[in-house]
Amino acid sequence: MSMCVVGSINADLTVNVERHPTPGETLLGSGGGITAGGKGANQAVAAAKLGTPVVMVGATGNDANADPATAILREAGVDMRHVEEVEDVTGLAVITVAANGENTVLVVPGANALVGAEFVDRHADAVETAELVLLQGEIPADGFARAVELARGRVVVNLAPVVDVPRKSLLAADPLMANEHEAGLILEQLGLDGAGTPEELARRLLDAGFASVVLTLGSAGALVATAEELTHIDSPKVEAVDTVGAGDSFAGAFCHRILEGDSMADAAAFASRVGAFSVTRPGAQPSYPSVGDELPEL
Ligand code: RIB
Repeated sequence: MSMCVVGSINADLTVNVERHPTPGETLLGSGGGITAGGKGANQAVAAAKLGTPVVMVGATGNDANADPATAILREAGVDMRHVEEVEDVTGLAVITVAANGENTVLVVPGANALVGAEFVDRHADAVETAELVLLQGEIPADGFARAVELARGRVVVNLAPVVDVPRKSLLAADPLMANEHEAGLILEQLGLDGAGTPEELARRLLDAGFASVVLTLGSAGALVATAEELTHIDSPKVEAVDTVGAGDSFAGAFCHRILEGDSMADAAAFASRVGAFSVTRPGAQPSYPSVGDELPEL
């Protein structure tokens, strides 16, 4: 059961601070190391570490950050034959993590900006043969749309960040996976009201044409919505130290379990435990569990 991620690969430069600076303020921080990130790569690694065969379609630059950005993808056994090294810088995320766990993330797309329709076409076989294609919002809209066109398997979309993609491509998502904020923005992009409770947002997205919706609600768990039912999923109670990439671990783990044959509610319950595991450790990919790691219980 194979999965293809068409998405971003970043080097994450993380600085730990007591609190976030205000505009014009200089603060001292710690850390400053580069670790592997990017929403696409994070989701690919999360699924691969749990045992799903994953092929990555994406790009790195030809700079010093390419190696640390792809280190965990390679370690996790992700098929890297469709990752191109291009004449550009590797995608870079500048992340600050405050003592209270809150983070800010600034992304320089670099090589990820070249993953457009022509790029995806060069790797069409990887997309066409996958049973599940997982997409995010960190590549150009025409690359996103082309991947949806080529996909013959199930398409799962985590539109983070929320970018303008063609309506038809977006509605192919089954499920659309989003946090509350993103769900509101997607609804507004569809010309609908983006305010409301998680249940209202999920129902409105279903009414807009999505076959299914998974809303991630942080420490409050998740909401799985189909035309038949809305199911609330709890999240284990844990002490969070760094939430960067937690949503990506949820998406990767969810797809892993869908490919194993789980229902959406069971897959989301498992993914919620994986997300809780990841927030108890620093970084994105370095915080993801492998087969055999003990996950927090619901
Ligand atoms: O979702 C977390 C990710 O967002 C980070 O790894 C960073 O690279 C940005 O893409």
